[in-house]
Formats: sequence, structure tokens, C-alpha cells
Amino acid sequence: MKFIIDTEENIAKKAAQRYVEILNRKPDTVLGFATGSTPLGLYAELQRLNAAGALSFKDVTTFNLDEYAGLDGSHDQSYRYFMDHNLFMGVDIDRSRTHVPSGLDIAAAADYDRQIKEAGGIELQLLGIGNNGHIGFNEPGTPIDSITHLVDLTEMTRKANARFFASLDEVPTQAVTMGIKTVMNARSIMLMALGKGKADIVKKSFTGPVTPEVPASILQLHPFVEIYLDYEAASML
Ligand code: GLP
Repeated sequence: MKFIIDTEENIAKKAAQRYVEILNRKPDTVLGFATGSTPLGLYAELQRLNAAGALSFKDVTTFNLDEYAGLDGSHDQSYRYFMDHNLFMGVDIDRSRTHVPSGLDIAAAADYDRQIKEAGGIELQLLGIGNNGHIGFNEPGTPIDSITHLVDLTEMTRKANARFFASLDEVPTQAVTMGIKTVMNARSIMLMALGKGKADIVKKSFTGPVTPEVPASILQLHPFVEIYLDYEAASML
């Protein structure tokens, strides 16, 4: 596990350089993307680098981690909408090669891991981290051998994400997420965390015991993980 600790701005730049390296080495790479406020700086930087000709997404295939159950991709709080508007529309990607789990066709979740495998497996999976240590929407207690599945969101997660909705009532109660095993199958993983509010869970996840009660702690067992933290998120390490 490698830690990269810097300012928020430099974290985004350093993380983006990993994509430059990977895509220049293998233009048809399979990438796993994440949503949330944390990767926004990275996504802006990737758009800038793409416009400057430093990297191309033309032959890339992507799989997103998760999606709210019940939200159509045109809903402005769906993760499909988030990805379209915060990354895909700003780069030269072929949208038909971008995958986000369906929030409407829940049965399709069962096929998501097979699709990833068929595409060659994920080379680099990007992750944020929830306040309770969730990765994707794998809440505490999720079995480590889980693949893409439907989950009930905890009250803590719904409250944390309510800031993006008009009210807490509008936050979906369920989501479809890659499982812990799906994430661990990626050949490399990049987790980003920003701000003081993440300092405690960062410490628990990466210096505490590996336990399903802290889903991100499983990453300690992955052979290639980079943790990108700003100084605040790293302040308790
Ligand atoms: C959501 C997403 C996670 C994300 C987390 C943290 O719950 N499902 O993938 O990591 O939020 O979000 P933020 O980056 O806004 O703190």
C-alpha cells in the first residue's frame, strides 16, 4: 500500500498522471470509475489533459462502481448523469463503452461482473471512501466475496448523500454496487480521500485490523493499492 499525501490540488494532478501513464502505455485500458465529490478535481484534470492532447480515452472501456436503485440515467442525481456531466461529455470517450450499473433493471446486476471479465478485467479501479468505510456502496458487514449486488443504504450514508438531493426523503434507500470481490479483482486500485472529515475512517481503514465492519480495510490485502490523501485526510495517520 502506497500513500501519496499532498494538497488537494496536487493530489488531483498526481492521480491524473497515473492515467496519462496507463493510457499512453495501453490505450484500450479498462478503467473503473467512482462518483462523489472527491474525484471531481481529478475528473477536471483529466478533461484538461485530454483537451491538451496528453491522453486519449478513445479506446477506453469503463465500468462505474455503483448506481442508486430506482433512478434513471437522466435523473440529475443518478451516477450515470454524474459521470456523463463530470467526465464523459468532456473527453473523447466512446459513450457506448462506458458502463454504469442500471438503477432500473436490477436483475442486470447479476451480469455486471461477467461483463467486466469479458472486457478483460479492470486495470485501475478508482475509489472514494464513505464516512463509515464503505467503498462503492458496500456498507459495513458486506461479505468479502460479494460481487455486484443490490444493497440497502444505511441511514448514515443516506444522510451524508442528502446534500445533493432536495430532501432526505428523496435519497434512494437502495443501490446497486460492485461487490468487494469485484473491486478486489481490479489489477490496481487508487483510493482518494479529502478533508478532515475522512481522517478518522482513513486511519481505521489502513492502520486498523482488516474487518468487514470497515469495508475499505480489505484493501490492505490487495497487492497494488495507492491511497491519495490531502493533508487533512492524512492528519491522523
Ligand atoms: C457515495 C459513493 C461512494 C463515495 C462516497 C463518498 O456513497 N457511493 O463511491 O466514495 O459517496 O463521497 P464523497 O467523495 O462525496 O465524500
